[in-house]
Amino acid sequence: MNPTVGVAVLLTVLQATQCQRINSLTACLLGQDLRLDCRYENKTNNPMTYEFSLQKDNRKRAIVSTGIIDNNYKNRANVTTYRNLLCLHLNGFKPDDEGVYFCEIRITNDYENNEKRNISVIKDKLAKCAGISLLIQNTSWLLLLLLSLPLLQAVDFVSL
Ligand SMILES: *[C@@H]1O[C@H](CO)[C@@H](O)[C@H](O)[C@H]1NC(C)=O
Ligand SMILES: *[C@@H]1O[C@H](CO)[C@@H](O)[C@H](O)[C@H]1NC(C)=O
Ligand SMILES: *[C@@H]1O[C@H](CO)[C@@H](O)[C@H](O)[C@H]1NC(C)=O
Ligand SMILES: *[C@@H]1O[C@H](CO)[C@@H](O)[C@H](O)[C@H]1NC(C)=O
Repeated sequence: MNPTVGVAVLLTVLQATQCQRINSLTACLLGQDLRLDCRYENKTNNPMTYEFSLQKDNRKRAIVSTGIIDNNYKNRANVTTYRNLLCLHLNGFKPDDEGVYFCEIRITNDYENNEKRNISVIKDKLAKCAGISLLIQNTSWLLLLLLSLPLLQAVDFVSL
């Protein structure tokens, strides 16, 4: 079995018990690039709109709005959407990119008001992105066990 499928199923079960909203917004450095992970909940299949933006000097500017990349970020930014996760990828992070980043989500009937989270991003304080981002979710030993099973099998296989 593909381990990520198992993890996804487990996370889905765990998350279904929580109330809906943006769970977390985290930032990390992937090589020279900035990655923001915006985790959210949804109960319905209703269409979602989202926006990643950056606030600097009291001005908030969109980076990507529901797939539309702002002109200032053409060829630099993209967003990957997963079931409960939006990933903003910003190529070549530079000092000018420091500021407060926002993730805003609206899903009809899930949340009528924009759900919003922000994170202050300073390059020197950014952690390196973990290999498996799902692990950031501190979902206890059960998850670790689940992930380690295929690993152990792989080790077994190599040693044969
Ligand atoms: C909400 O969750 C369902 C699965 O329960 C999924 O099919 C759908 O794409 C999700 N919608 C959004 C906007 O993420
Ligand atoms: C889009 O995101 C991927 C990672 O998911 C990255 O490798 C790629 O460079 C990005 N492309 C642009 C144009 O930003
Ligand atoms: C960021 O969010 C916190 C609460 O989570 C809020 O107190 C703060 O004012 C927000 N910052 C900005 C710049 O909106
Ligand atoms: C992770 O979970 C443990 C207990 O399961 C807790 O003590 C710890 O504070 C959690 N860490 C984070 C970052 O939430």
